Amino acid sequence: MLLIKNQVIEVLKGVIYFAKGDNIVNLGMLDGLELADSAVKFNLVFPKLGEPAVNIVTNAATKALHDAFGEEVQVTITPITEKEKGRGPLAGVKHIIAVASGKGGVGKSTVAANLAIALSQEGMRVGLVDADIYGPSVPMMFGVEGEQPGVYEREGKPVIVPIEKYGIRLLSIGFFVDTNKPLVWRGPMATSALNQLLSDADWGVLDYLVIDLPPGTGDIQLTLAQSYSVTGALVVTTPQKVAFADVKRAASMFRQEKLHIPLLGLIENMAYFTPADMPDKKYFIFGRGHGEKFAAELGIPLLGQIPIVEQITEGGDAGSPIALDEQSVTAKSFREIARAVISGIQPKNL
Ligand SMILES: Nc1ncnc2c1ncn2[C@@H]1O[C@H](COP(=O)(O)OP(=O)(O)OP(=O)(O)O)[C@@H](O)[C@H]1O
Ligand SMILES: [Mg+2]
Repeated sequence: MLLIKNQVIEVLKGVIYFAKGDNIVNLGMLDGLELADSAVKFNLVFPKLGEPAVNIVTNAATKALHDAFGEEVQVTITPITEKEKGRGPLAGVKHIIAVASGKGGVGKSTVAANLAIALSQEGMRVGLVDADIYGPSVPMMFGVEGEQPGVYEREGKPVIVPIEKYGIRLLSIGFFVDTNKPLVWRGPMATSALNQLLSDADWGVLDYLVIDLPPGTGDIQLTLAQSYSVTGALVVTTPQKVAFADVKRAASMFRQEKLHIPLLGLIENMAYFTPADMPDKKYFIFGRGHGEKFAAELGIPLLGQIPIVEQITEGGDAGSPIALDEQSVTAKSFREIARAVISGIQPKNL
């Protein structure tokens, strides 16, 4: 079902906040309304949380939306205080795009870094969070290892200023810890590291904040899904069945009702081999058509096929992602993916 903003607002006008004697729309309690197929998400702004009225009004709003549009519509309402409204550190970020995969080493970081650059080449304001706290790679891919983000104080709390490179604002746990020493993260530490990178940083105004996730379906994925409003996830796979089996697990995690991160599309990395001196050649060393088949199985579009090219590894290691070389075939593939993201591919999550 396609939800229409005005209709949703009309329905919410039927929900009264008795303490103030008017409906929640007229009282300006509605904040950050987001609609997708069969899903509606917004904050409700209350003077104070923890009062019975908060639950009563939130439940009434959920019921009103279900009555109007059907039980299948997924309603996510977050009660917040006036203090939190519009002042959240991510208030200036329009879209959060997660780059995910079930399997390690399939090219998430490569895709995240190059997509960030391609989005910025399309004129977007872009940030990139390296949420792979277990194996951060953004500092190396952007050639900013050893740099230290600035910190300033706001209302007595430290605020981190992302590093800027190639016009992209960057943050990684790699800026704060010695990545040569093994790190053992327990669940709550992982959660708090992610919150610091997202919520304790000054991201300013961004069209897209791209998040490079660690492999798998752990605490980082869970925190991101539960605590942040993610526009959608891109899933990265390689053409092998073993990789795809793990990708399917990650996809089904995002599709769980409680988490609900819409899947925007699949990216098949290492889809074929192109020798450096024969850029027009394509050798499908793992066989053809896997990406299409996997995407169809997940019921999401195949947004791009990235070849295996030496330059990708070289660029990644040298701090200069391949998308910067705008004439390369690979850069063009990333531009296409960026355009697909911008043109608002319909999230599918059912
Ligand atoms: N299309 C490609 N062609 C050639 N090399 C590639 C390609 N994609 C990724 N690589 C290389 O493969 C390695 C792994 O890629 P990357 O770090 O992006 O994967 P990842 O999924 O983020 O891994 P991890 O799970 O460890 O975070 C890197 O050395 C990268 O340069
Ligand atoms: Mg990675």
